Amino acid sequence: MKIRRVFAIASHETFRIKPINQFIKRTVGFEFVDPFPYPYQMDALNYLDQYPKSSVDAVVLDPPYSDHQLIEMYKKAGGFSILGNPKYWAQIKDKTAQVIKPNGLVITCGWNTNGLGSGRGFTKEKLLIVAHGAQRNDTLVLLERKNNSLELYG
Ligand SMILES: C[S@@+](CC[C@H](N)C(=O)[O-])C[C@H]1O[C@@H](n2cnc3c(N)ncnc32)[C@H](O)[C@@H]1O
Repeated sequence: MKIRRVFAIASHETFRIKPINQFIKRTVGFEFVDPFPYPYQMDALNYLDQYPKSSVDAVVLDPPYSDHQLIEMYKKAGGFSILGNPKYWAQIKDKTAQVIKPNGLVITCGWNTNGLGSGRGFTKEKLLIVAHGAQRNDTLVLLERKNNSLELYG
């Protein structure tokens, strides 16, 4: 996996952070499924349910990075199905793995590098570490590709 580390000022609008914006454009391009937009629109699982199996080329998952962040930053924005609900994350990942075409790409932003993982048929290709200075958490931007050989997954 290729790893790069850069510095950028933090923003709750992740895609406006320049190196993250560039990373997304250079890897998945301009067209991708975005289940966690800002501001909140609808529940991400219901949103992903609209897509048939193996129908999309790219998904970018940019959820609240913790329960604390969800409460602090997005409390007016709905979406509380996530709060204290670890099963929700597994469902989001399973659903994402299903809707992506073989060879398709998933970017996951957050504070860990778990991503969808090999168990769901994905290979980690690139990791962008965006440091924000002081005691702030870095933003980790992980690119994974769905393996061709596991087409039958899901
Ligand atoms: C990190 S922000 C996304 C920022 C966005 N990518 C941008 O660059 O502007 C996470 C978003 O997920 C929304 N959200 C929270 N729970 C959600 C849920 N269950 N389904 C869909 N969106 C949710 C929050 O309201 C917030 O807008």
